[in-house]
Amino acid sequence: MKRSSMTRREFVRLGAGAIAAVEASVLAPSALAALDDPQAKVRFAIVGTGIRGCDLLRAARQVPTGVCVGAADLYTMRHQTAKEAWGSEIPTTGDYRTLLDRKDVDAILIATSDHLHRRVTLDAVAAGKDVYCEKPMSHTVADGFAMVDAVQAGKRIFQAGSQRVSSILYAKAREIFQSGRLGEVHSIDAQWNRNTPGGAWIYPVPADASPENVDWAAFSQDAPPRPFDPVRFFRWRLFADYGSGLGGDLFVHLLSGIQAITGINTVATRAYSSGGLYHFKDGRDFPDQLETIYDYPGMQVHLHCNQNNADSDERIAFFGSKGTMVVTGRTVTFTPEEVRPQFEGYGWNGMTAAQRQKALDAWRADHPAAPPAVVPSQVEIYTMPQGYNDTADHIANFFSAVHTRQHVVEDEVFGNTAAIGCHLANHSYFHRNVATWDAAAKTIKG
Ligand SMILES: NC(=O)c1ccc[n+]([C@@H]2O[C@H](COP(=O)([O-])OP(=O)(O)OC[C@H]3O[C@@H](n4cnc5c(N)ncnc54)[C@H](O)[C@@H]3O)[C@@H](O)[C@H]2O)c1
Repeated sequence: MKRSSMTRREFVRLGAGAIAAVEASVLAPSALAALDDPQAKVRFAIVGTGIRGCDLLRAARQVPTGVCVGAADLYTMRHQTAKEAWGSEIPTTGDYRTLLDRKDVDAILIATSDHLHRRVTLDAVAAGKDVYCEKPMSHTVADGFAMVDAVQAGKRIFQAGSQRVSSILYAKAREIFQSGRLGEVHSIDAQWNRNTPGGAWIYPVPADASPENVDWAAFSQDAPPRPFDPVRFFRWRLFADYGSGLGGDLFVHLLSGIQAITGINTVATRAYSSGGLYHFKDGRDFPDQLETIYDYPGMQVHLHCNQNNADSDERIAFFGSKGTMVVTGRTVTFTPEEVRPQFEGYGWNGMTAAQRQKALDAWRADHPAAPPAVVPSQVEIYTMPQGYNDTADHIANFFSAVHTRQHVVEDEVFGNTAAIGCHLANHSYFHRNVATWDAAAKTIKG
């Protein structure tokens, strides 16, 4: 049903009151105290102030319970981006370890390329810091479990950075899912398509970048040694040494959303991927089109992402026996199915009129209160308010947990589970085989 054809009664909108209620709920009482007490704010430093790191800093400015006290980046120009995103007062460094030595740093936000998430997390945890680490949490399965072990052994607070998990839109979707209004759900289909160079990770390569202002040796840690290559540095998502392709960039958001809404927090038992590099033949390692079918206990999940068409932006559809729910970037739509008993007339078309009438009479006798005809579905749409920022809520949830030592919404186990979904998809694609998850051995087989 098109929105324009709906009646007012069928359209439900989240109002400003709803936002205020949710924002208050993510800030625990001790965190709220920080609003009045500057000393009680979480003092955080950030490692990696490129595209996402600057987004995090701008979002964190909306969260009154934290204050940025330092930033690190390997590329000296990005010391200035950090100051522009947060404020000129923050000290900057090229070596993140100097931030870890500081006693006035409570927590570290990590927004480096994927391959360094493990190293920075382990160093931060060893220094006693709590960690917010961007998605995908891990670059490999082994990285993810090393991070889980370190965080748990160090009793640190860890938030993985898939911000939709904190979104008020996903809270509404979770409420509908858990209410049972969808009935039995055994099928989920999610996609996210883009059709721009930026959507295919062709990011700018500044002309000034050189070994003098990029610490290439530090960037290349935990990756095969190569001579300085600015394309690899600025477009690291294209290369398996540093990035994780569509699986790490988009699948992880979709899988985190599915985990948050359904409550599933286990890895799929197996995954089969198909896809190809059809258009962006620029030397990249990853496909520009990827589809994966996952088997979860009692659930089939189909993900597909495409960098050559933008017909569908992010969209997760939950197909239930009593209704369908579709979550997009800004809306949740619930469409109930007609589930009241109905006379099944199709099969009787092949019978005589007398046979059909007899069957219909018998059915009516068995269903005296049954309605005569299908009633039109009542569609509900929930729209995210303009200006709402789920990243700010996600950071607020992290700061709150740093204060209270209570759980975050997306801890290390949740983040690791979602990231393994990415690794299963890539494993199947590159091995051209079904990938199976061996939970006991914590490895992918196939
Ligand atoms: N949650 C989201 O919606 C979202 C959106 C975009 C990116 N991300 C994630 O954020 C991370 C960063 O992505 P990006 O687009 O900002 O990449 P980017 O290349 O723009 O920025 C990464 C920055 O990290 C710096 N860096 C790398 N290793 C470092 C180290 N050891 N010490 C200090 N600085 C280091 C680089 O110099 C670079 O400036 C990735 O893991 C990505 O998947 C998440």
